[in-house]
Amino acid sequence: MINIHEMTIQDYDTVIALWQSVEGVGLSDADAREPIARYLERNPGLSFTAWDGDNLVGAVLCGHDGRRGYVHHLTVRESHRRQGIGKALAERCLAILKAEGIDKCHLFVFTSNANAIAFWKGIGWTQRVDLYVMSRYTGDGSQ
Ligand SMILES: CC(C)(COP(=O)(O)OP(=O)(O)OC[C@H]1O[C@@H](n2cnc3c(N)ncnc32)[C@H](O)[C@@H]1OP(=O)(O)O)[C@@H](O)C(=O)NCCC(=O)NCCS
Repeated sequence: MINIHEMTIQDYDTVIALWQSVEGVGLSDADAREPIARYLERNPGLSFTAWDGDNLVGAVLCGHDGRRGYVHHLTVRESHRRQGIGKALAERCLAILKAEGIDKCHLFVFTSNANAIAFWKGIGWTQRVDLYVMSRYTGDGSQ
């Protein structure tokens, strides 16, 4: 049986190892322990882990900025895919966002990540063709 729990910073080492073990999750300095701790503190009750006994098999970060929700890094261990765990994690996030009065959620997915795009479409998400993501460092980008 799969159990889903709220993610805490105590899960960090296990979760980052899972994210690092799969393709399709873009990790950066923003995924170091301190920014993830800050993210979880700013978005309590919105990020989740999935467990098969003591084995971490899934994880997702979710938060909102008061107007829109964002999901990041949804991952299911390869051995446990196509069992509905990814969908269960994503739906848990949407349910909490809805309960907090957030009526829409966005996510970023690499254009090369065909499996994830098929997954998100399969569970009812719409691929935006009217938007590009634009990014800039707040400083000079040297650190
Ligand atoms: C994307 C990911 C989280 C999906 O997790 P999962 O637990 O296997 O997904 P689910 O079993 O909940 O799938 C739900 C539905 O999504 C669709 N789906 C899932 N994976 C799919 C795939 N590879 N191809 C086509 N459809 C897919 C299906 O409709 C599926 O329902 P079905 O199995 O009854 O046909 C998982 O493949 C993963 O961890 N990928 C690597 C990390 C990654 O790229 N994350 C996304 C970052 S944006």
